[in-house]
Amino acid sequence: MHMKIAIINGPNLNLLGKRETGIYGEVSFDTYFTSLQNKYPQVSLHYYQSNVEGELVNELQRVGYEYDGIILNPAAYTHTSVAIGDAIAAIKAPVVEVHISNVHAREDFRKFSHVSAKSAGSIFGLGLQGYELALHYLLESRK
Ligand code: DQA
Repeated sequence: MHMKIAIINGPNLNLLGKRETGIYGEVSFDTYFTSLQNKYPQVSLHYYQSNVEGELVNELQRVGYEYDGIILNPAAYTHTSVAIGDAIAAIKAPVVEVHISNVHAREDFRKFSHVSAKSAGSIFGLGLQGYELALHYLLESRK
């Protein structure tokens, strides 16, 4: 079966590779995404990024009834967005929350997530590998 998995990234993640590289690393998401596509040719992977909260809600609604799973890094909106939490609760596709950095080892405001309780599970602190681990989970749990 050809699974359809969506990766959705929130604000400032378009700057990966040049943004606070000590925390987020030096690899751009486009480069990482290409390597993921090459590694999982049997999966139909779709990537979306927005800096705008409502656009992330729109995309969750769009893919949420059509795709088999969603890997979501809402970035700073994780800690503030009731709307993104509600969108995850509304849709059918399972969501895995991913954070590149260890949000629990940083400022206190990063310890709260509107997303975790609505998600199948969460991965944080494992760098870009977190996206692949989330993909692995979604592929295995559909078998
Ligand atoms: C992040 C962690 C968030 O706290 C932060 O606002 C981000 C990125 C991460 O992937 O580590 O922008 O989601």
